[in-house]
Amino acid sequence: MSLFENIQITPSILSADFTCLKKQLDILRKENIDIIHLDIMDGHFVPNISFGPEISGQIQRAYPEILLEAHLMITDPNKYIPFFIKEGIRAFSLHAEINPDLKSLKAIYKDILLGIAINPDTDYEKLMPYAEIADWFLIMSVQPGFGGQKFNEKVLEKVKKLRKNPVTKNKPIQVDGGINIDNIREVKEAGANLFVVGSALVKAASIENYLEKLRNHIK
Ligand code: DX5
Ligand code: ZN
Repeated sequence: MSLFENIQITPSILSADFTCLKKQLDILRKENIDIIHLDIMDGHFVPNISFGPEISGQIQRAYPEILLEAHLMITDPNKYIPFFIKEGIRAFSLHAEINPDLKSLKAIYKDILLGIAINPDTDYEKLMPYAEIADWFLIMSVQPGFGGQKFNEKVLEKVKKLRKNPVTKNKPIQVDGGINIDNIREVKEAGANLFVVGSALVKAASIENYLEKLRNHIK
């Protein structure tokens, strides 16, 4: 069974304080976080730039027991995936808006996990060509590009539809953007099992306490 099938928080470090990133990663590891969500932006698919393969690789080498999942908000993933693979990253989510060829990627890189992502204003139908091949679905609940935005609850309809569809109902579903202790239960009830939490968690007064609260809401 893949780690993605568990019900869990997959923290995003996009809004972390990078001058003391290790301190925050140490806490997440101590709190038994298994998957960390890396927001990779190219300034083209989204109007912002974040970090790339080198930094991702440094984190992977420092925390080999954590599965790093790279959310590729980039126009040309085929060009950059080899660099991430070289750095030890093994899980990627790609956006359906750029029509990625997951089948070819899986044929080239045998042991990778691939998720398929959609923006809030992209239709659920856009996921369907990937229903079989994707290892998980990523439903954006904010317009990608920035941390700390307001959660858009309308996207939960897509989560519910995925849970009903016989082809997709058993696959992991991740929701990303604006999740906090006030809405995480609603996201779980819609059918998601993976919850990206960025700013609410890394900017909390105590990451440990906030994580415990989040976990209590999805029990
Ligand atoms: C948005 C990113 C999200 C986001 C999560 O472009 O994909 O992962 O930063 O952070 P919060 O929880 O702050 O929305
Ligand atoms: Zn993300």
